[in-house]
Order: sequence, then C-alpha cells, then structure tokens
Amino acid sequence: MFYIGIDLGTSAVKLLLVGEDGAVLRTVSKAYPLSFPHPGWSEQNPSDWWDACVAGIRELLCGFDASAVAGIGLGGQMHGLVALDQDDRVLRPAILWNDGRTAEQVDYLNNVIGRDVLSARTANIAFAGFTAPKLLWMRQEEPELFARIDKIMLPKDYIQYKLTGVHACDYSDASGMLLLDVQHKCWSAQMLDVCGLRETQMPRLFESWNVTGTLLPEAAALLGLPETVRVTAGAGDNAAAAVGTGTVSDGDCNLSVGTSGTLFIASDAFRVDPHNALHAFAHASGGYHLMGCMLSAASCNKWFCEDVLRTADYAGEQAAIREEALGQNRVFFLPYLMGERSPVNDTDARGTFVGLSMDTSRADMVQAVLEGVAFALRDSLEVARALGLTIDRSKLCGGGAKSPLWRRILANVLGVRLEIPQTEEGPGYGGAMLAMVGCGLFPDVRAAAGALVHVRETIEPDPALSALYAQRYLQFKEIYPAVRDLYKTIKPV
Ligand code: XUL
Repeated sequence: MFYIGIDLGTSAVKLLLVGEDGAVLRTVSKAYPLSFPHPGWSEQNPSDWWDACVAGIRELLCGFDASAVAGIGLGGQMHGLVALDQDDRVLRPAILWNDGRTAEQVDYLNNVIGRDVLSARTANIAFAGFTAPKLLWMRQEEPELFARIDKIMLPKDYIQYKLTGVHACDYSDASGMLLLDVQHKCWSAQMLDVCGLRETQMPRLFESWNVTGTLLPEAAALLGLPETVRVTAGAGDNAAAAVGTGTVSDGDCNLSVGTSGTLFIASDAFRVDPHNALHAFAHASGGYHLMGCMLSAASCNKWFCEDVLRTADYAGEQAAIREEALGQNRVFFLPYLMGERSPVNDTDARGTFVGLSMDTSRADMVQAVLEGVAFALRDSLEVARALGLTIDRSKLCGGGAKSPLWRRILANVLGVRLEIPQTEEGPGYGGAMLAMVGCGLFPDVRAAAGALVHVRETIEPDPALSALYAQRYLQFKEIYPAVRDLYKTIKPV
C-alpha cells in the first residue's frame, strides 16, 4: 500500500508518496503566491492551496497504482485563520502565521485579559501570529465578515475539509490558536468568549493519527483516488516535522530551518515555560512539546540572495565564504524581516545589518545572514537551557538544512550535535507516518518513528569554533536591546 504525506507550507505544498517500508517513492512541490497587502501583513488564498494539492497529488500518482493508496496525512503551516461562512465558503484570504497586523489585539490580550490568565487557560500568551488575536482584529476591522463566520479552520484543516467534508483539527495545531486548553485538550470556553465565538464554530478535535474520514466522492474523482482512502487529522507543521525526524521521546529536540525557524523539544508531560517565551503545545505523538519560533529563517537567506543580490545560486554565494572567516565575522544581521516571535515577541522589529565597513564583502554579508539566523535560534535554545533542559543533540530539517555550511554554522553557534535524518522532508514525511499509524500499520507514533526514521549524517560542533561563536553570540545579544526603540519610530504611517 502507499501513503501520501502533505506538507502545506508557506511558499509551496510538498507532497510525498511513501511505501509501506517508509521509502519515499516520489516528491512533488507546487508553489503558490504569498501576498503582503500592507507592510507586515501576510495572506494567502485557501483556493490556491487546494488547487496546488489537487495538481500535486495527480502528478505524484503518475505511473503509480492509485488504487493502492491507503491513507493521507497532513502537516501544515500553523495559526493561519481560515474563516468559512454557513455554506463553507471562504470569507476572506487566510491571515497567516507570520502576519503582524494584530499588535493592538495582542496588547489587549496580554495586558488587559492578562498574561497569567491566558497562560492558565491556554498554557500560552498572545503572539501576533496566533489565531485568537486575528479573530479580534476581524471582529474590530471587518465586523460584517466576522458576523458571517460559521466555522474557523487552520490551513491544513481546510485541505482536510476539502478531502473529507469533515471540520476537524488536531491538538498540536489547535494549540497555536490561543483558544485551546492545551493541558486538558479541549476548547477553552472562556477564551472563545473573549473572542466572541461559540464552540459550534470550532472544528472537532482529534489526535493527529486519528482517522477523520474517507475521501468525498468528488475529491476522490478529482484526485484519481479510491473513496476508501483514509485521511488522518495530521498536525501543525512543526509537530509533523518532529514526527518525521523521530523527535517523539521525552527531551528529544528538532530544529527546523524553513521559512520559519523552530526549536522543538518533545515532552511526555505537560509543562509551561513560566515566562511563556517558548510555546507550550500538544505533540502529534500524544504528548506535549515546548517550542521557540522565529518568523524568518531560511527566508532571510532567500530574501538576501534573490531580492537583494539577484541570484538563486545560494551555493555559489556560500562558496565565497572562507573557512577562516567562520566565527570571525564583524558584520551582524538581526533576522527580524517580519518582526519576531520567540523570544522577543516584537511585531515592530526589523532586519538590521550592524558593523558594515568599506572592506565588508558580499560574502561577509551572506555569512552574517546565515549566522544571524543561527544566533536567533540560540536565543530560544538559551531559554530552554534556563528551564533546566539539557540539549546537546538535535535533529535538523527544513530547506536551510540542505546547506552543509549552514549546518556547520548552526552546530557551532548552538553547541549541539546535529543529526540529519535520511528523509529531510520533515512535515510531509511526518504526515505520511501519521497516516500509516491511522491505517493500523503501526500501533502508535513512537513505534512508527522507531521503525522508519534513521540518521544519515551527524555534524559535531568543533570546540574551538564553538568558543569563537560563543563570543560572537554575546555581541549579537547586545544589538536588539540597543535598537529596539528605534523600530517603533520607523513604522510605516
Ligand atoms: C510555528 C509557526 C511556524 C509556522 C510555519 O508556531 O508559526 O513555524 O507553522 O509554517
């Protein structure tokens, strides 16, 4: 039998066809547009996601026996607000996880409702990308549309709905709405009330490996798949990536360097960071996790190479970085191109180069971008270490993980041994694994990970280089507090 993993990303949907033995038989990627209608806003059309999934799945199956597909599992960009009317029509473009329009609503939630109250109800405080502040924004700015909301969905759940006709959400993704009582895995009646919502407007909750339904006849016909295909609830992309990289046991860590950058620490027991700098979410394995999320990671490198340097030759740019320059760069980059989430929680923050001089080269700046992302991930790692967590090794996935130089920089800036799994397509592979569990191929997610995930390469930090980077990190840490107030004065009017 075959299993399909869907990773509904921010720049593209990535689809994987996986055999029973876990081998990835084919991957297909279909891009869709991302729009920034105002500075700091970020939106996508759910119909673009669905069109890309349909075209992608049809391409994925070309030359394979589609009748042998048993299950589909999804991982997807988290937090995005998809609002449907009573006929399940999309009311407005989805407001995405990296959208920064809700500073006022975040301020209301954190300072009027109060951080302690939010944390007690949901295990988290408000961040601009989370779903609850977006609902408050919509209620305030688009009251007619808000009044017509019949169902609220997250991005991958919209695809799930198009496949099965079921309004479903899994606990890992629901955790990022600020509407879920994460510890007890149920909607928080008080938080729904704060946002002016009724529980009937929320999707039904499932564990990630639960089957939510089988394919609707029209979806099956469109995709060329049998109606018997089972669809599992899936997970937020970070939890799905953690499954896909085998980050499922207590204390396991996964780093994802994609459009966003995340540090993900699996935990059997529910726990909350007392300062809420790290998110406390449910895991797709049935347990929980702590997570730091930076909003622009591999996207900083993409922006600098493609938009500024006007090249797509990332490897060529990185080849110009000299070995002796590692740990010695006098140029720093703050990677806050979309504001920042963890741990600074500042929608006004912006990307910043510091330390340029007449002898600064193009390679120094490319290096500073790669290092700035690593330093910002270290900020979250330091929060985790301050909670008493020992993290000396981690899995690594995401587009940024493909660069050998960036891997080395990450290992040495973080002082962590990095393990690259055989399959780097974290969320898509995790989605397929969840489908395998849902179809009964494995008894649970941990068993699937034990059988299917293998480490292909490890990168050890080099003590001398790590020591140099430890010095540079101290300097990096000084920059944001020094310029923080400036960002508020350069906001667009
Ligand atoms: C996690 C987050 C991002 C998105 C990106 O909290 O906002 O990692 O899920 O897809």
